[in-house]
Amino acid sequence: GQRLIVDTDTAGDDSQALLMAALAESIDIEAVTIVAGNVEFDYEVENAKYTLDLAGVADSVPVYEGARRPLLKEFDHVDHVHGEGGLGGELFPDTGIPSADGHAVDAIVDIARESPGEVSLACIGPLTNVALAIRREPELNDLLDEVVVMGGAVNTLGNDTPSAEFNFWVDPDAAKIVMNELDVTLVDWGVTVRHGRIGADDLDRFAEAETPYAEFFTTVTGHAREFSRERLGVDAATQPDTLALACLLNPDLVTEAGTYFVDVDEREGMTRGYSLVDELGITDGEPRTRVVEAVDESTFEQMVADMLLHGDP
Ligand code: BDR
Ligand code: CA
Repeated sequence: GQRLIVDTDTAGDDSQALLMAALAESIDIEAVTIVAGNVEFDYEVENAKYTLDLAGVADSVPVYEGARRPLLKEFDHVDHVHGEGGLGGELFPDTGIPSADGHAVDAIVDIARESPGEVSLACIGPLTNVALAIRREPELNDLLDEVVVMGGAVNTLGNDTPSAEFNFWVDPDAAKIVMNELDVTLVDWGVTVRHGRIGADDLDRFAEAETPYAEFFTTVTGHAREFSRERLGVDAATQPDTLALACLLNPDLVTEAGTYFVDVDEREGMTRGYSLVDELGITDGEPRTRVVEAVDESTFEQMVADMLLHGDP
């Protein structure tokens, strides 16, 4: 199968993306690495372990703890989006499963070095661990197979500030390093809003289903559904991380993409974390980021339904 490292600030949609990776027959998760982001770090670690356990792979997938803070900036958690603890505000796992020995950044570098070109990386949180791994191993880009990043807000409003998406906002210095130095497929907030929402009908259908995965999904997304209703006036659950993972799992999902130079505003201030996309090739920046512009949303919905109802995305 496709060997994969998942770098995640496990809460909300991260847990569903991780579930998708864990249940997909064609994916072998080599490691899960945890980064500061959505909620308090120790909750993120437990949330990841709980998710792997639910999928029945906790014994074979090591969870490495990584950076507990961004490279330079201060940041805020978003419990108000995902609920306290990150899993809807009702579930606070305490699995007793130990974390793997060693630091997440070393794990990423070591795994990539051991199997050059064979391991892919799904980045679904702030990019602190990945940026540190690049500094630790300058050849990282060549050592990895595919890299998918959920982050940025391409030509659209941000979700954390009007100019920035959360993952890029939390650690814009790291995001800048990653976008400048890795060949990335980017799944941004804009394509998520356009095509990565699970709508009310599906949410109701999953809420009625009595499978363990559907129940987990409903618990985890309940708070976010409320938040989306109040903040965006939309009765839906946005699934950016799940969409990013789905694009890796099923490349046919991507119906439109363009390759551009993408940069990140790392300066403190109004545009911190802004993702600049040079669509017209005006700058000298190297076009190396494959920006996913559209996906087949019915296929995505079907993948989520198959995962939740049949355990097989
Ligand atoms: C990103 O922010 C987080 O809250 C989500 O898990 C996702 O990775 C979306 O902006
Ligand atoms: Ca995330």
